[in-house]
Amino acid sequence: MRTLVVGLGPRSYRIRIGEGVSSRLTDVLSPFAGRRVAVVSSPRIWSLHASRVERLLRAVGPLSRVLVPEGERAKSLDTLGAIHDAFLRAGLDRRSLVVAFGGGVVGDVAGFAAATYMRGIDWVQLPTTLLAMVDSSVGGKTGINHPAAKNLVGAFHQPRAVVTDTAFLRTLPERELRSGAYEILKCGILGDPVLFRLVARAPGRVEAWGPERTERAIAAACRLKARVVERDEREGGLRRVLNLGHTIGHALEAVTSYRRFTHGEAVGWGLIAATRIAFRRGLLDEQTRDTLSAAVDHLGPRPRVADLDVRDILLAIAHDKKAKDGQVPLILPTAIGQVTTAADVAPAEVRGALAAMGVAERPSPRNRTPVRDRRR
Ligand SMILES: NC(=O)c1ccc[n+]([C@@H]2O[C@H](COP(=O)([O-])OP(=O)(O)OC[C@H]3O[C@@H](n4cnc5c(N)ncnc54)[C@H](O)[C@@H]3O)[C@@H](O)[C@H]2O)c1
Ligand SMILES: [Zn+2]
Repeated sequence: MRTLVVGLGPRSYRIRIGEGVSSRLTDVLSPFAGRRVAVVSSPRIWSLHASRVERLLRAVGPLSRVLVPEGERAKSLDTLGAIHDAFLRAGLDRRSLVVAFGGGVVGDVAGFAAATYMRGIDWVQLPTTLLAMVDSSVGGKTGINHPAAKNLVGAFHQPRAVVTDTAFLRTLPERELRSGAYEILKCGILGDPVLFRLVARAPGRVEAWGPERTERAIAAACRLKARVVERDEREGGLRRVLNLGHTIGHALEAVTSYRRFTHGEAVGWGLIAATRIAFRRGLLDEQTRDTLSAAVDHLGPRPRVADLDVRDILLAIAHDKKAKDGQVPLILPTAIGQVTTAADVAPAEVRGALAAMGVAERPSPRNRTPVRDRRR
């Protein structure tokens, strides 16, 4: 088992990482002994893994269970209301404990329910996807989507503990594993050359990484995010470096209505684009550019981008970043393990990088083949 501390003064907490660590749940939660506990999960996760945790949670205190629907759409006001209703029915009070047991969706909505119920009650995270283990379970961002934008409504509410049991990953589909792996690689590129090499030299299929490498990679990614969050808990500035690959990634997700790419796959494309823009600006040499791109590609195939229209992507970026005079701030790699913030990336630069990835202007709308996507 590896343990790391997210040091945020009175809001500090431990992340415990390892195969089977959830077997220590009763111990880890002993500070909460006797309190009412509500575990929030989804039907799929509960049916796959309840046997590992239910008995241990019951040993902490009177347990109630709240299941929320699968998928991004569960991050809604309706789900939030249903969770609050369930907390009330179960008699949760200000001293009760919420346990978020699932991927990033469950973590975000359950964490926000904990942040808002009775002005904020304690919660812990039991992440079950690789993405949640390396990203959403660290840093205390919670929230739901609004019809106008993703993650628009939310709160910073740090968990009291995170228990990351890699055994849960055994049932996670390869594509979801890969989605988390792109985020791990992102952490390596932006601040940890050792982690970068660990991922670049690992087998392309995450399933083949083995427990030791998986655990090391998760711990290193969490450590990197924790160090950034410790210096900038509420995203004043520094925390934005974690958005490496995300501006263009988000735009790719938006123009395909969040159906074609997993989040990590879109970030993978975003990393390649950022690498190309950095190279053209003279921030990266050719060899480093190729090493970075090869490491991204090594993680496996991503859904295509070549049929997308560059104009749609540029519009989505401008919309996302409220671009000034068309220019957007982007995080760009300058070496393996180092990034800089470029405040003024011009649309032509993004266009150039996308062109090199095969994304150009498509024929006029009448002749355009509609993009058909299926995901979620
Ligand atoms: N709060 C943050 O800082 C932060 C950071 C990154 C992402 N996020 C959010 O996280 C969400 C994405 O999270 P995600 O990628 O974990 O998606 P997810 O929670 O939707 O999980 C993906 C799928 O895997 C299934 N699943 C989960 N665990 C499983 C397991 N062990 N075995 C088999 N199937 C399993 C889920 O039921 C779901 O169908 C997004 O809403 C994103 O906005 C938040
Ligand atoms: Zn991300």
